[in-house]
Amino acid sequence: MKNDIKDIIFPEDVIQKRIAELGAELNKDYADKSLLIIGVLKGCFIFLADLARVIDLECEIRFLTASSYGFSSASSGKVNMDREIDFDVEGRDVLIIEDILDSGITLTALRAFIAKHKPASLKICTLLDKPERRQLPMTADYTGFECPNEFVVGYGLDYGEKYRNLPYVASLKPEVYS
Ligand code: IMP
Ligand code: MG
Repeated sequence: MKNDIKDIIFPEDVIQKRIAELGAELNKDYADKSLLIIGVLKGCFIFLADLARVIDLECEIRFLTASSYGFSSASSGKVNMDREIDFDVEGRDVLIIEDILDSGITLTALRAFIAKHKPASLKICTLLDKPERRQLPMTADYTGFECPNEFVVGYGLDYGEKYRNLPYVASLKPEVYS
């Protein structure tokens, strides 16, 4: 697996340091509030696990599944998403946790879907953001890192369901895609 890596873009210690900063920001912004965290599976699972442990607030953690990639490195433009929510959103302070904001298609669909359930507030936290790739106008309220315009894996992010378990964010050698 490690032979497939081209460059490590965000090393483990850099990610952990940034997560501590994001946690401190959230603890301040949501002080005295009760948070409903909604993780977007599957890419968020490692980021959310680390971020949740530096959040010092009462919170409920739920998950929704969304995908638009399938087995490729370019978005299909169509979002497959859970269409039902089995928890209460109305009147809650909701924070969506995503691995990466790319074209913006996934989060646009997800945000509209959750907004229909009338949360008191709705914000987005993403580990990575590739602003150059945006097809729909979308900004996150909390961003870990701006990511170079390159396909990346690791720390939850996959290529064909592999590499999610790498402890850092990295690019892949071109031959991996062929
Ligand atoms: P969007 O709908 O194009 O914004 O894409 C968001 C989703 O695409 C993310 O939740 C990821 O699952 C996936 N994605 C986008 N860019 C990458 C990447 O560089 N590596 C791995 N997955 C990615
Ligand atoms: Mg994802």
